[in-house]
Amino acid sequence: MSHAEDHEGTRRDFLYYATAGAGVVTTGAAVWPLVDQMNPSADVQALSSIRVDVADVEVGTQISVKFLGKPVFIRRRTQEEIDEARAVDLSDLPDPVARNVNFGGEVSASDENRSMDEAGEWLVMVGVCTHLGCVPLGDGAGEFHGWFCPCHGSHYDTSGRIRKGPAPENLLIPLAEFIDETTIKLG
Ligand code: FES
Repeated sequence: MSHAEDHEGTRRDFLYYATAGAGVVTTGAAVWPLVDQMNPSADVQALSSIRVDVADVEVGTQISVKFLGKPVFIRRRTQEEIDEARAVDLSDLPDPVARNVNFGGEVSASDENRSMDEAGEWLVMVGVCTHLGCVPLGDGAGEFHGWFCPCHGSHYDTSGRIRKGPAPENLLIPLAEFIDETTIKLG
């Protein structure tokens, strides 16, 4: 990353925090920098990719791996979680955009546009709250049975979409693909 981009990132961070108007982030909670995470530049994307073996991930559980300095949640959802995510009326969503960098343009935040496979069993997301960057709790946490960020009370559903609280956007879906039946490549 060049110095110019460094500075750009710093300035955006500053603006983001300033306009969010929140002066306090709970101490003790992990905070991750939100640096241009919706639009990773080509050089950042090319920096690295990792392969994650998901053969041992059981239905109804998730693993968290670190990728490009941030936690990435890989969840293998139950049918119940998938059904709940897919039954949601899209007009109820505060953020109507999928936030999936695997798509070129903006697409709707349907669960089909966020999950990795057609059946919807696999959901891969950057584990960083879109409010001020805490790491949300998983495993059915919060009022919508998905993830809950305790820093300021953001509730995400079983598709990682923001449903209640101050977070402005759905949890980001990073570049991810299956390269064989049990291996997910990130980046
Ligand atoms: S960082 Fe504020 S609700 Fe998550």
